[in-house]
Amino acid sequence: NICPVIMAGGSGTRLWPLSRGNYPKQFLSLGGQSETMLQKTILRLEGLNHMPPMLICNEEHRFIVAEQIRQIGEKHGGIFLEPIGKNTAPAIALAAFKAIENNQDPLLLVLAADHVIEDVDAFHQAVSNAEEHAKSDKLVTFGIVASSPETGYGYIQKGPMQGSGYQVKEFVEKPDERTAQQYIDSGDYYWNSGMFLFKASRYLEELKTHRPDIYEACQKAIEVQNVDMDFIRIDREAFTDCPDESIDYAVMEHTKEAIVIPMDAKWSDVGGFEALWQVQEKDSNGNALSGDVMVLDTNESLILSENKLVATIGVSNLVVIATKDAVLVADKAKAQQVKSIVSQLKSQQ
Ligand code: GDD
Ligand code: MG
Repeated sequence: NICPVIMAGGSGTRLWPLSRGNYPKQFLSLGGQSETMLQKTILRLEGLNHMPPMLICNEEHRFIVAEQIRQIGEKHGGIFLEPIGKNTAPAIALAAFKAIENNQDPLLLVLAADHVIEDVDAFHQAVSNAEEHAKSDKLVTFGIVASSPETGYGYIQKGPMQGSGYQVKEFVEKPDERTAQQYIDSGDYYWNSGMFLFKASRYLEELKTHRPDIYEACQKAIEVQNVDMDFIRIDREAFTDCPDESIDYAVMEHTKEAIVIPMDAKWSDVGGFEALWQVQEKDSNGNALSGDVMVLDTNESLILSENKLVATIGVSNLVVIATKDAVLVADKAKAQQVKSIVSQLKSQQ
């Protein structure tokens, strides 16, 4: 009895100008694919025995979400609209309260709408390995073998083996680079994939223990929800007081009941242009190209154009993103710094 909960409220700023405030990454299709990341997240569930997924997004994106679900002809179990983003701990709490309100206590399969998973069978296998643990009241995370000291991930130290997984000895969200390097050297850590499986009631119990303030704010907010066709509107006033926090800091770093299931499913969170380049198909010179693009003597580059001809000569390891109203040219190894461009733009608004 698995109820997928798809979180689609992020802003995807590391892929600017491809991903924009009014049209973030999860609603885009990457590299000329026919489905968007959100649609792929839903379609990837086929074959798991599951209930229609609940979706949680910002109110601003409600028509994009509804239209994308309609396009693929899938059912859903409600689209929750947040008046403001409060990060993932509250988003999941709203879904958990709602699931219980429906007099059920399903296993919530919490998923991000903006991940790439190429090996769907391996993903399904990991979920089915996780089920026994979640049924016996554990909070399961899916671990990716950590291969470099990325600071944008949660790190999971594995403890003793338990069934098809490991007890979690320690969960550390977004460590600094030195710490991340120590974790990599120890060989003992997984990256947190940002996907979880647990009973709705168990998540709420843990949240109540570790962050009663978030628990109470969400409990109030779900009481004044306003159901409007497919949409479940979360009351602005009630939700405004809710603290802003991720599940990782609010619950996963503190719970003593976590299990990690290793997952080798060619997963990527496409956390920047280098990662986007990695998951895309490339020509014989290692270029990932999409749109109206001409390349000459160009290597290992990501070049993407939405509505104009882009030509490059004699360059390598570049990122070139040309959209209707913005062009980004960056060194592929430094493209993460696009974050600072986005925050400068925001402060100018
Ligand atoms: N509904 C809703 N509301 N969804 C949200 C919100 C919100 O306020 N904030 C983020 N999301 C969605 C994003 O769209 C994404 O699908 C997912 O929740 C995770 O949020 P991110 O903001 O992308 O988190 P992260 O990438 O920094 O970190 C998480 O994922 C990593 C792996 O990709 C953590 O779980 C890390 O531990 C993990 O390693
Ligand atoms: Mg992410």
